[in-house]
Amino acid sequence: MTNSKIAGIGSYLPDRIVKNQDLTKYLDTSDEWIRERTGIEERRYATKHLQTTTTLGTEAAKIAIERAGIQKEDIDFIIFATLSPDYYFPGCGVLLQRELGITNTEIGALDIRNQCTGFIYGLSIADQFIKTGMYKNILLVGAEMHSMGLDFSDEGRGVTVIFGDGAGAVVLQPTQKEGQGILTTHLHADGTHAEELAMINPGSHGGYHVGTEKYGYPDPSVPGGVFVTQKMLDDGLLAPNMSGQLVFKTAVAKFPEVIREALAKTGYTTADIDIFVPHQANLRISQMVQKLLRIPDEKVVNNIQKYGNTTAASIPIALCEAWENGRVKDGDLVCLAAFGSGFTWGSALIRW
Ligand code: COA
Repeated sequence: MTNSKIAGIGSYLPDRIVKNQDLTKYLDTSDEWIRERTGIEERRYATKHLQTTTTLGTEAAKIAIERAGIQKEDIDFIIFATLSPDYYFPGCGVLLQRELGITNTEIGALDIRNQCTGFIYGLSIADQFIKTGMYKNILLVGAEMHSMGLDFSDEGRGVTVIFGDGAGAVVLQPTQKEGQGILTTHLHADGTHAEELAMINPGSHGGYHVGTEKYGYPDPSVPGGVFVTQKMLDDGLLAPNMSGQLVFKTAVAKFPEVIREALAKTGYTTADIDIFVPHQANLRISQMVQKLLRIPDEKVVNNIQKYGNTTAASIPIALCEAWENGRVKDGDLVCLAAFGSGFTWGSALIRW
């Protein structure tokens, strides 16, 4: 049977380091508050107007392609996961194709919008295409440039301190080796809390949201509308919002649940996991999940301390770093899991 394997992995983090202390220049916050609640010490910000989500993703993709031992021309499908795209449309998939100089128009480019779970969704989609024999070299990229979309006023401090910029990429290929590659993936969604971790504006609701004025202002006198109004700008309604405690509470329930689902499907137990790479949402969430599943420290990868939450990029960045440091070895059982906006959550088990 054909499975999909990660044949190459790469990551890219912008050079500019923004420490918690640096944020205190703009926000009423403190290094102590941020570390205590999230474990984050610093994050990276890309260079405004020179870099974009696509260019960050391109740097990671080049490394993954080289490590897979293929040429960019061999890529037959692109999947790009991000919540901070260069443009409202088109998505970053085609921009990445152009940036990489892939002129082959036979390939497809898919954009997925599953926020923190984006990489797991992408992995699952790629796995299905490879298993059916449709594609042989899928480039999956998770990249974010959050720094351009955060609210640097005190009102946004609960969200702004958490997020950072970065990118990770993998090349997926078929493998016939018995028991190798992606063993299972599990995807979930619950739209009940869609607005609890979201950026509502701009959107087709035109500033009007479920009968309230919470997220914007309707203008019933015009038949159409504009995505962005001056009032939205004045009132700071163009930034992400998050119900932090609800997100925390739901995440610590869903992470173990979806990991257990993957283990049950494959007949493994938590003791069989060699390396656990959780989405880097918040160090406190990862620690609680680790404790609930009784996974020892040496098997858990956390680098949120250095990079903050990089959403769709966080798993490939952490996995890449772990692989580069020799923490992921051939034959290891690798467990990936994520939870985030949507709410969406998912897991994957990979025999490396
Ligand atoms: N610096 C200092 N104070 C801050 C702050 C900041 N950056 N952000 C919020 N505060 C203040 C609040 O205004 C509030 O003050 P008050 O008590 O005077 O009203 C106080 O800190 C507590 O706020 P609260 O939002 O209740 O904090 P919390 O304990 O829930 O921690 C989070 C906030 C965001 C760190 C926490 O809820 C969390 O980690 N949630 C999960 C977030 C996450 O993982 N998101 C990514 C999902 S993929």
